[in-house]
Amino acid sequence: MLNHVLKPSLISNIPKNIKYFSTTPQNFFKVAVAGASGGIGQPLSLLLKQSDLITELSLYDVVHTPGVAADLSHIETASKVKGFVGAESIKDAFKSCDLVVIPAGVPRKPGMTRDDLFNTNASIVQAIAQACAEACPKAMIAIISNPVNSTVPIATEVFKKAGVYDPKRIFGVTTLDVVRANTFIAEAKGLNPANVAVPVIGGHAGATIIPLISQTTPKVSFGEKELQALTVRIQDAGTEVVKAKQGAGSATLSMAYAAARFSCALLRAMKGEPNVIECAYVKSDVTEAPYFATPLLLGKNGVEKNLGLGTLSQFEKSLLEKGLPELIGSIKKGESFVNK
Ligand code: 2OP
Repeated sequence: MLNHVLKPSLISNIPKNIKYFSTTPQNFFKVAVAGASGGIGQPLSLLLKQSDLITELSLYDVVHTPGVAADLSHIETASKVKGFVGAESIKDAFKSCDLVVIPAGVPRKPGMTRDDLFNTNASIVQAIAQACAEACPKAMIAIISNPVNSTVPIATEVFKKAGVYDPKRIFGVTTLDVVRANTFIAEAKGLNPANVAVPVIGGHAGATIIPLISQTTPKVSFGEKELQALTVRIQDAGTEVVKAKQGAGSATLSMAYAAARFSCALLRAMKGEPNVIECAYVKSDVTEAPYFATPLLLGKNGVEKNLGLGTLSQFEKSLLEKGLPELIGSIKKGESFVNK
């Protein structure tokens, strides 16, 4: 099963020629990007403009979306792009959307944890989730805004209060952890990263990121020290980028790639493609944390089946034990932010 997990799907969505579009219409979904003018939002919108599953791309932000939309609208793919700027247009942006992807908010600067973004990003995600609950209550919601461990519970509480909550439809995007794990393991073993699949479970911050290297496809093995170093590198990979960017933000391009990969996988599953599996952070009863990332079988209505943890090595069990308290704390923080 896991060799279906997490294989890049974007390339197959890139149109080969115009005739393909004129003779084989395969466009189905309306997708919004909330935070479309930002560092992640712009490259993410560019990647989504290449997907032949998207009929309409709705770009929302508090600044610059008319320009970003005009720019993207010249690209020779069939989807229609429209920009919406400012809070007063937010519900128009989300109206009848099938999927809303949310990278809105501020990124980390060196020395900051993802949780340090809570004060700014919590209310941004709350407002966007409120607009989604009103304008497109049945849409899939894919949250990138950090701290993801808390912003997914925030969106959930907003949907609950609005009486439109469906746990199968709200996702925290953890795909970048998988993408990084695939890349680093492939480098270590001299493999092509496109052929490597590492499930990553837990949350999306430091110790809560739990790569299951023992479940890698193809099977790989490492000595204790190398396993430890690879795990820490995967957990700290976001911080590696924050440091390298020297104050100019966090990962934008690889995050856009990862979010586009997740979004396209979800759209393919919504269209009816079988066996679409991706890891994501969702409402869960797999562990004692009420939200937890695991491999998920995706379908027309979002999460079709939670595929759980699989068999963990002793080392992975200890990572889980270490990550759970932080994860549970971040979840509570998000929930009480909305219910205060
Ligand atoms: C990262 O992992 C931005 O959280 C994002 O780099």
